[in-house]
Amino acid sequence: MSADAPTNVALVTGASSGIGAATARRLAQAGFAVGLCARRTNRLAALAETIARDGGRAFATPCDVRDPQAVRACVEAVEDALGPIDVLVNNAGLGRDAPLLEGPVEAWQQMLETNVLGLCVATLEVTKRMRARDDRGHVVHIASMAAHRVPTGSGVYAATKFAVRALCEGLRRELRAAGSRIRVTEISPGFVETEFAAVFHGSEEAARAVYDRIRCLSAEDVAQLVAFAVTRPPHVQIHDILVRPTEQED
Ligand SMILES: NC(=O)c1ccc[n+]([C@@H]2O[C@H](COP(=O)([O-])OP(=O)(O)OC[C@H]3O[C@@H](n4cnc5c(N)ncnc54)[C@H](OP(=O)(O)O)[C@@H]3O)[C@@H](O)[C@H]2O)c1
Repeated sequence: MSADAPTNVALVTGASSGIGAATARRLAQAGFAVGLCARRTNRLAALAETIARDGGRAFATPCDVRDPQAVRACVEAVEDALGPIDVLVNNAGLGRDAPLLEGPVEAWQQMLETNVLGLCVATLEVTKRMRARDDRGHVVHIASMAAHRVPTGSGVYAATKFAVRALCEGLRRELRAAGSRIRVTEISPGFVETEFAAVFHGSEEAARAVYDRIRCLSAEDVAQLVAFAVTRPPHVQIHDILVRPTEQED
């Protein structure tokens, strides 16, 4: 971490795999104490152990971001364990194969509640605390290239990520209007090889077919961008980073 960086505790949502796990490891290496949350507690515990073994500090707490009360409890638990949160990485999210002409509605609901509602509640709970202290900090939203164009069949997933983009700009404007020094950033990746495609298609085999088509980004590629954004000097606010695998066409 650079000497003038104001941050030292980060909460990463969806830290049990993929981009969230890589971001937690990367931020720990950069000197942050990291709060880890997700639903799969065994994964979180293993990651916290790895981070500690590598000389970092981590605290794992279960949280389903669809439940506002659980998010509140998670933020409280992380602050009790590690101290005031300086960086929130809103990464928890998922896509489901649920076209607009087919549903199922339950999959739309899960995407909307996780990717949009969960992100809003986590942001509210953390920024409330930041504002009550010195009104500094950084909120990073993991959006998607699907926040910038709509892949066929992924209308609802894209709608959640377009929403994330609107929420990033909406938050930035509210913070500026309030005279706050909290910064906001979104990162919009294309294909990243994680558990995302297996969750989307409901099968490992289909996921392999997605990731074998081209050389995808790694979770670590995205984690490096998060670490870069949150370690800029306080007067620098990166708004959005669009990042695709070189071979990705769309
Ligand atoms: N992979 C890509 O190609 C890609 C591209 C652009 C954007 N993204 C975005 O990147 C973010 C991370 O995805 P990933 O690619 O790393 O996929 P991933 O490996 O499937 O990770 C998703 C993470 O979100 C967590 N999560 C899902 N639902 C949750 C809930 N209700 N409450 C708490 N945590 C929840 C999962 O943890 P649990 O299951 O343990 O709860 C997991 O840790 C997502 O927002 C995704 O939309 C991914």
